[in-house]
Amino acid sequence: MNISHVKTTDFTDQKPGTSGLRKAVSVFQQAHYLENFVQAIFSTIGPVTGQTLILGGDGRFYNREAIQIIIKMACASKYSRILVGQGGLLSTPAASCVIRKHQANGGIILSASHNPGGPNGDFGIKYNINNGGPAPEQITNAMYTYSKNISSYNIADIPDIDIDTLGNQRIGHTDIITIDPVADYAEQMSQLFDFEKIRKLFAGGFRLCFDAMHAINGPYAKEIFIDQLGAPAETLMNCTPLPDFGQGHPDPNLTYAADLVKVMNAADAPDFGAASDGDGDRNMVLGQNFFVTPSDSLAILAANATLAPGYADGIKGIARSMPTSQAADRVAAALGIPCFETPTGWKFFGNLLDADKVTLCGEESFGTGSNHIREKDGLWAVLFWLNILAERQESVEQIVTSHWQQYGRNVYSRHDYEEVESDSAERLMSNIKKQFDTLPGQRFGHYTIAFSDDFAYTDPIDNSISRQQGIRIGFTDGSRIVFRLSGTGTKGATLRVYLEQFEDQAEKQQQDAQAALSELIQIAEQLAEIKKHTGRDQPTVIT
Ligand code: G1P
Ligand code: ZN
Repeated sequence: MNISHVKTTDFTDQKPGTSGLRKAVSVFQQAHYLENFVQAIFSTIGPVTGQTLILGGDGRFYNREAIQIIIKMACASKYSRILVGQGGLLSTPAASCVIRKHQANGGIILSASHNPGGPNGDFGIKYNINNGGPAPEQITNAMYTYSKNISSYNIADIPDIDIDTLGNQRIGHTDIITIDPVADYAEQMSQLFDFEKIRKLFAGGFRLCFDAMHAINGPYAKEIFIDQLGAPAETLMNCTPLPDFGQGHPDPNLTYAADLVKVMNAADAPDFGAASDGDGDRNMVLGQNFFVTPSDSLAILAANATLAPGYADGIKGIARSMPTSQAADRVAAALGIPCFETPTGWKFFGNLLDADKVTLCGEESFGTGSNHIREKDGLWAVLFWLNILAERQESVEQIVTSHWQQYGRNVYSRHDYEEVESDSAERLMSNIKKQFDTLPGQRFGHYTIAFSDDFAYTDPIDNSISRQQGIRIGFTDGSRIVFRLSGTGTKGATLRVYLEQFEDQAEKQQQDAQAALSELIQIAEQLAEIKKHTGRDQPTVIT
């Protein structure tokens, strides 16, 4: 096998964001662009001689081409084994599961998660380390530094590899093993949840509608819900993965999962609805005409965790990202376990999970997961809900409203302003920060500001500090407004405004979230002058 040492020049923009390097497909299609970054990965974590690499992606446009390039570069770097998902596919949670199960040194996942795909959409690449979780910032920063100084990369001169037939092929020093992308993952799910009980639930006529949004979880849902749990075929919606996700936006929320929302709001709606995103790590859950916020979902899973066999011994602790509502904190307090507040992004949960400080983690952005892997996990959340529904024999709405009665409701919403001009967005943020000194004690209608800060996090395990993780405005009654700029967007800036208010009076808990939060929404405008800086009257997406 001949190895070419290809001369290249650096690109200046290969800095990984909240979740890997994510760019428009056209950026990745530039000559040497992907190769440079892959070399930055291998050289930063290397030498990789003799190691095992897991490789797969969410099947979006350019997935197959990228897989071939990475296999050739991994052979040139002398990995001893590459486990590649059949067809180049692996959901993010499945990749994490496979890395851990096969004791690989790490994995490359090709995905831009919930961003649209297709030739005009986005592509992405992220590296996960041997615990199955996203590479921490020190590593991604080192990759970025390497990418800025790169002058050549190594690639094997071999023809394309067959990634569609299961089995082993040996190239030079490297075994390339094509694996079933679903099997390991499905097996793990059957160990965590009571499949027998869920099978009975379906046999009794319980109806689920699962929307894979034409993305990676289609084959996983078919294997688990239909083949293993006996749900009828009509359970599956949009479950054939397409390279452009059917030209949709594979983000499971009330705006983009419109097909599912329509079904769940119809007169003859199924009992339970769920959707997942491009790479299968996000989830949205719905009851009949009823939306469960991801923050509530985390709290409810925590409160009911012992109903699932995998968590029957109880949970050690909960971690939530800073903008996520404080509903989980209330459950943790009641259970007498710690609740950690981390910056946005799954990578901040890794240390807490590895140190066994927490069992469940979640983010308001439709991400929930546990210590079973080191990524958030869309189907896992749906199975957890199914297990709880099978045990409690109540509707989704009953479970949520009785949770509110017991713990109070953290009324919650996120308003996103997408594709805002970057300088204006930065100005908006710095103008709020300038007010920090004078905000505490100020009254706004019914609310008084208790504190304002730019969130900084000290990791309790390795003491690393992450600063500037979002502006927090805290009110004396526990309500909050959080302002953050997205770290995953690829066009301009995305401003996220997170709103939260606590409601312990049962008769007010049923209120529509936007109505209940209307005063906080006005205060956010007053503090940030969103209309002036973004030129928008309305958020692009409300979740
Ligand atoms: C978004 C979400 C964040 C999530 C990330 C990756 O990041 O807000 O919670 O971890 O996607 O799925 P953001 O664009 O806000 O930086
Ligand atoms: Zn995702």
